[in-house]
Amino acid sequence: MRISFVGKGGSGKSTLAALFTQYASRQGQNVVAIDADLNIHLPRLLGFEKPAAETYLSEPSVALAIKDRLRGTNARIGKPETFRKSTPPGSGSHLILVDDPNDPIIRSYSTKKDETRLLVVGTYAEEDIGASCYHNNLAILENVLSHAADDKALVVADMVAGTDAFASTLHAQFDLTILVVEPTWRGIEVYKDYERLCRQAGCLDTLKVVGNKIRTEEERAFVTKHIPAEMLLGCLGQSPYLETQDRNWGPIEFAQLEPENALVIRTIYDALKRLSYDPQKRLEKLWDLHRTYVSQRFITERFGDLTTQIDPTFDFTQETTKQRACNTTH
Ligand SMILES: Nc1ncnc2c1ncn2[C@@H]1O[C@H](COP(=O)(O)OP(=O)(O)OP(=O)(O)O)[C@@H](O)[C@H]1O
Ligand SMILES: [Mg+2]
Repeated sequence: MRISFVGKGGSGKSTLAALFTQYASRQGQNVVAIDADLNIHLPRLLGFEKPAAETYLSEPSVALAIKDRLRGTNARIGKPETFRKSTPPGSGSHLILVDDPNDPIIRSYSTKKDETRLLVVGTYAEEDIGASCYHNNLAILENVLSHAADDKALVVADMVAGTDAFASTLHAQFDLTILVVEPTWRGIEVYKDYERLCRQAGCLDTLKVVGNKIRTEEERAFVTKHIPAEMLLGCLGQSPYLETQDRNWGPIEFAQLEPENALVIRTIYDALKRLSYDPQKRLEKLWDLHRTYVSQRFITERFGDLTTQIDPTFDFTQETTKQRACNTTH
């Protein structure tokens, strides 16, 4: 299963993603955390050494190697450059078995601490400054997620601020998206934007909201007044523990969190666990997004018809089982 944490800058995405990662790991889950923000904060919060830039997924040589591995012998992807951000897996593609430490991509690019693994998408390379956009970096994350078999693991993504996910396939690649909202008008506006975009994209069922940094009963009432009860999983208060750790620039530890805040993290976990794993539904959604993406003129003029990359015979669950059996026998 997969969960992402989104919201406005500074709302608490990284903090909640880190706490959730630690809680899920304590529950015995095999967790792969992904830092998908250009400001890389998740390693420090989780107490990891900062991973080497050579392992960042968006490093050009890493991204190329990953795409090469994922493409495998998929005859529907002709030249490597036709492997676009929305290209779905098809016959011959390699999936990423995220629970398997020997999976080539997990082994090469993740770092491990205790039972948790971490992947970092990466920041701008020097030559990108002033000439690039973070969407380019996130494209490799789209490929990784679309090929990730996460039936035996939990993928937790700390996303970049804002509504970027709607300019890509990322909004449709998670079972649950947690929008972190502060008790301000700006926070509510971000919720309204997100809710509308999710509704238009047909993925409102995957969106839930968590209030954060609530200091008073008035602030709590403000959030509950503006966020419908069925959307709101709970609210974390302004946490003295998190404030102290932040001042010390230190890692955070779920076990030290105030019990009432810890309860909200548990509620998010329970909400995710209630969902059923349906990779085929996710894949079919990706097919729709792929059709839309590759029908744009700049793609058709350069590459022709890439809708042929959709392999209607591809059964994600069957492929996962097949590739897992193959990995264990080799
Ligand atoms: N419940 C809380 N109580 C107290 N402080 C908090 C709480 N949640 C987050 N913070 C603090 O708020 C600040 C922003 O948190 P965080 O970095 O997690 O936000 P973010 O949404 O990931 O930000 P960015 O958009 O920069 O990535 C940090 O100083 C963090 O310690
Ligand atoms: Mg952050």
